[in-house]
Amino acid sequence: MTQTSTNAPFTFEVTANPNPVSDADREAILANPAFGKFMTDHMVTATWTRGEGWHSGELTAYGNISISPAAAVLHYAQEIFEGLKAYRHPDGSIWTFRPEANAERLNNSAVRMALPELPVETFVESIRALVTADQGWVPGTDAGEKSLYLRPFMYASDAFLGLRPSSEVKYSVIASPAAPIFTGGLKPVTLWLCENFARAGSGGTGAAKCGGNYASALAGQIEGAEHGCDQAVFLDSSTHTYIDELGGMNVFFVTKDGRLVTPELTGTILPGITRMSILELAKEFDLQPEERRVAVQEWKDGVASGDILEVFACGTAAIITPIGELRWEGGSAPSTAGEGGGEVTRGLRQRLLDVQHGRAEDTHGWMTRLV
Ligand code: PLP
Ligand code: COI
Repeated sequence: MTQTSTNAPFTFEVTANPNPVSDADREAILANPAFGKFMTDHMVTATWTRGEGWHSGELTAYGNISISPAAAVLHYAQEIFEGLKAYRHPDGSIWTFRPEANAERLNNSAVRMALPELPVETFVESIRALVTADQGWVPGTDAGEKSLYLRPFMYASDAFLGLRPSSEVKYSVIASPAAPIFTGGLKPVTLWLCENFARAGSGGTGAAKCGGNYASALAGQIEGAEHGCDQAVFLDSSTHTYIDELGGMNVFFVTKDGRLVTPELTGTILPGITRMSILELAKEFDLQPEERRVAVQEWKDGVASGDILEVFACGTAAIITPIGELRWEGGSAPSTAGEGGGEVTRGLRQRLLDVQHGRAEDTHGWMTRLV
């Protein structure tokens, strides 16, 4: 099933922003970017029309978009997105991490949400066009863990209230300088075990990166915050027994007998690119990667018995973040993370960051040069 009628790669016509942010203001933002708060000077846009395919690829000044109040996305949430980062290497060049994997995931999400696929080359080209125009927004190498977060997204813009796949769709990319989403770096986060709300259900859209999944996770996050937690972790919606993932991150367990365990992809979990990369890195850390169902009881028992040594979350925004205490209504499992995360958590995080920031050899061929 695909909504694409013509799917030839295309490029983006560049019109530079006549009023970019001043150098001084940009430098001030880059010194303290937080996450997702400031946008760069430009954006990418393209349109898909049924029968015509993709057209009108442009790179223009960042700015508000105009949309019909009847646009399908506003009513039926026909929308998908991606998240990846651009990193400045010590020689000044700018790279990104596994962009083809993001392009493929975007297309898998598109198929699930009845949106058109985008050629993989065009996805990478859209990133390259934006990062080239906004290269001054990629933090310098003295910036440690900072990067430029890239947010491609696609939405149904058809002005029609009947329920049908949209006949007009917009694709766009915006960018935002970013520090890791958790400001504490290696400070362990406290998780709320969400038993009242599921993020995604069997046969639903959990494996697609669509906006609705994130909206449905917010109630759990609010409940967690009310219990003093940083994030919520969701269970499978059928049995409320197995760990799925966090609202915007996958989860891993390091066991005493040398296994690196993560919940298997059941259709309700987002196939994270960081998750996939960590599974590929396991061997370098003498760990046995394991994708399988993980019961929440196994987590509670494992922490108590010492069979689970470390728990961590991972994703583009989160990088790798140690998980500390797990709380639920009426109970909690203590942290195994110590002050700054366990040894494996720290080692994997450093390794991943070193490859992404060009401080270690890219032996897996994960990096793509943009500028
Ligand atoms: N799970 C969810 C729900 C996410 O939003 C993300 C972030 O993109 C991830 C997992 C991690 O995916 P990735 O490593 O590709 O960023
Ligand atoms: C990402 O890591 O790219 C995400 O999508 C997390 C985001 C929901 C903040």
